[in-house]
Amino acid sequence: MVFSQRDIISIRDFSKDDIDYILRIAEKMEPIARSQESSDILSGKLLGMLFYEPSTRTRLSFEAAMKRLGGSTIGFAEARTSSATKGEKLTDTVRTVGEYTDALVLRHNMEGTARLAADIVDVPVINAGDGAGQHPTQTLLDLYTMKRLLGKIRDLHVALVGDLKYGRTVHSLAYALAMFGARMSFVSPPELKMPREIMEDLSGAGVTVQETSEIRDVLSYVDVLYVTRIQKERFPDPQEYLKIKGAYTIDKELLKNSEAMVMHPLPRVDEIAPDVDDTPYGKYFQQAFYGVPVRMALLKSLIKQKI
Ligand code: NCD
Repeated sequence: MVFSQRDIISIRDFSKDDIDYILRIAEKMEPIARSQESSDILSGKLLGMLFYEPSTRTRLSFEAAMKRLGGSTIGFAEARTSSATKGEKLTDTVRTVGEYTDALVLRHNMEGTARLAADIVDVPVINAGDGAGQHPTQTLLDLYTMKRLLGKIRDLHVALVGDLKYGRTVHSLAYALAMFGARMSFVSPPELKMPREIMEDLSGAGVTVQETSEIRDVLSYVDVLYVTRIQKERFPDPQEYLKIKGAYTIDKELLKNSEAMVMHPLPRVDEIAPDVDDTPYGKYFQQAFYGVPVRMALLKSLIKQKI
């Protein structure tokens, strides 16, 4: 498996074997992520963090992963503190930070920026979310969570719920679940359905997906409810957001007759009630933790190490 120096732009760049390989290493990383063991395999290595869009988990779990492996990070958490405010082009910033570091993590509100960055720097570029495009490392940790907590991915029935139009996590995840042979249902308001292009790719791969706007349609038989936030910031018209806001709220009462585990990439707004948090259904904080070992596995595999 050759991972060294690879760019991680879209989940579609991965084969099933690639993903299995990363998930296997992630399992070995767990004791280090939990601070039960220590490691210095990336000591002296620097990860560049270019976050043009807000982030909590993705940014901090990459930092935690790099530091737990003995490496360090540099970068910015908001474009305001970078020379972008002076009018510097993204490509110039990326080229510069690429010179300082051993790998780059980039989040940006425009689709396609990670691919563009990867074309101009020699170090590996990791897409930490490009607009409504893709979020491949989130998908890796989502798959890891399912495998870790349910023992498999194949044949699971997963409902992707919420904003399937603008949510990049569900775009990446849908492709990956298809690759692993999971069954899928898409639950969204009619205005926020999975983009047609993705539906066509899925049916081209022989995957049929049930679409509905009613969560009760799927509750009794799905293994996973993967809930997402309505992506307010991506609506061209704020009025449209206001119409749809609060379309779903999953609470303990609703889950009563379901055996599904509830996942969410977080942040949540009001789509999962706090009364789910400490029930056996709520797995989203555990899922957030798994971001650390999964990103450790990725960094270890991508960054050239000392012999
Ligand atoms: C998601 C993202 O940024 O796409 N968050 C994350 O990375 N865990 C989901 C979201 O913002 O709704």
